[in-house]
Amino acid sequence: MNAFKNLIGQSAEIQAVIRSAQIVAATDVTVLIEGDTGTGKELMAKAIHMCSNRVDKKFITLNCAALPEALAESELFGHKKGAFTGAITDQPGYAKQAEGGTLFLDEISELSLSVQAKLLRFIEYGECQRVGDSNPQRVDVRLIAASNCDLRKHVKDGLFREDLYYRLKVVPLELPTLQQRSKDICILAEYFINDFSSQHKLPKPELTKAAIKQIESYSWPGNVRELRNMCERLVVLLPGQKITEKNLPLETQVKAKESKGFVLPSEGIDLEYLENDLMRQALDATKGNKSRAARLLGISRDAFLYRLKTRPI
Ligand SMILES: Nc1ncnc2c1ncn2[C@@H]1O[C@H](COP(=O)(O)OP(=O)(O)OP(=O)(O)O)[C@@H](O)[C@H]1O
Ligand SMILES: [Mg+2]
Repeated sequence: MNAFKNLIGQSAEIQAVIRSAQIVAATDVTVLIEGDTGTGKELMAKAIHMCSNRVDKKFITLNCAALPEALAESELFGHKKGAFTGAITDQPGYAKQAEGGTLFLDEISELSLSVQAKLLRFIEYGECQRVGDSNPQRVDVRLIAASNCDLRKHVKDGLFREDLYYRLKVVPLELPTLQQRSKDICILAEYFINDFSSQHKLPKPELTKAAIKQIESYSWPGNVRELRNMCERLVVLLPGQKITEKNLPLETQVKAKESKGFVLPSEGIDLEYLENDLMRQALDATKGNKSRAARLLGISRDAFLYRLKTRPI
C-alpha cells in the first residue's frame, strides 16, 4: 500500500511536497520536515518510512522536547552500566533500538548544543557512542527530523548548529499551513467526516454550502489537527444533521466576520505606509518567499511583484 495516500490533499502546494517525499523515501537520505503545528509532519515521516526499504524494521519516535537535557545523550545513544548514578544496567538507546529502521527525531530544535554535536558525528560516521563506553558502535538507521519552529532562525541565534542544519536539510520538505492550501480544507473535512462516521458507527453530518464557505475562510492556526478535531466533534454531536455556519465553532465565525472588513479610524490612515509595512511583514513571515507572501496578503504573485517593482519597500 502507498502510505502517501494517507496524506489527503489535491492542492499544488501539498502535492509538490508529497512528490519530493516519495523520491526521498526510496533512498536513505536524512530528511528534515518543517511546518507549523498540526500540518502533518509526523504523518509524513511515517509515510516516508512505510515507503522505504526499511518498512519491515522499526519506526521509532523520539520527542526531543520531552527529553530532560541531562538524559538526552543517554536516551539517544544509550549508556553502560555504572556510567552515572542510576545507570544500573546497560541501555541501548533509541538509535540502537531503531537498527535497520528509521529514527524520527521530533522537535529537533529542542536538542542541546552538546547533543547536537554528537548527533552530527552520528550522521557523518554512522557511529553511536554510549555514555561511559569508549568504543563507538556502528548503527544503521535512517534519520528523519521534524521542527515546527524556524530552524534557520535558531541557527542565526546560535541555538542550532549550522553544520547540523545543512546535514539534516539535504532535501527540504516544508509542509504548508492549511491556510496556504485552502483548496484542501473542504476535501479534508469530507474525508475526516467520512472517517469518523464509520469509526463511531454514526450517520454522516452534511456540511451546507455556507458552512463550507466559512471553514474555507477561517485561518486554522492549529492546521489539519484543528480541522480533524472539529470534524470528530461534528460527527459525535450532530450525527446525520445538516451543518450550518451556526453549528461551527465560535472562533471560525468570529474570524470570518473579522475578515469582512477593516474599520477606517476617524483620524484616517497612511495607506501607502500601511501597504508597504504589510508587504514587509509578509516577506518577513515567509522568509522572503514572494509567492507565500502574496498569498498571505490575498493578492496574486504577479500583483505582489508589480507592487514591489513600482514601490520598493
Ligand atoms: N494531509 C493530511 N491528511 C490527513 N490527515 C492529516 C493530514 N495532515 C495531518 N493530518 C492529521 O492531522 C493530525 C496532526 O498531524 P501530525 O501529528 O502529523 O502534525 P505535526 O505537524 O506533527 O504537528 P505538531 O508539530 O503539533 O507535532 C494527525 O491526526 C494527522 O493524522
Ligand atoms: Mg508532531
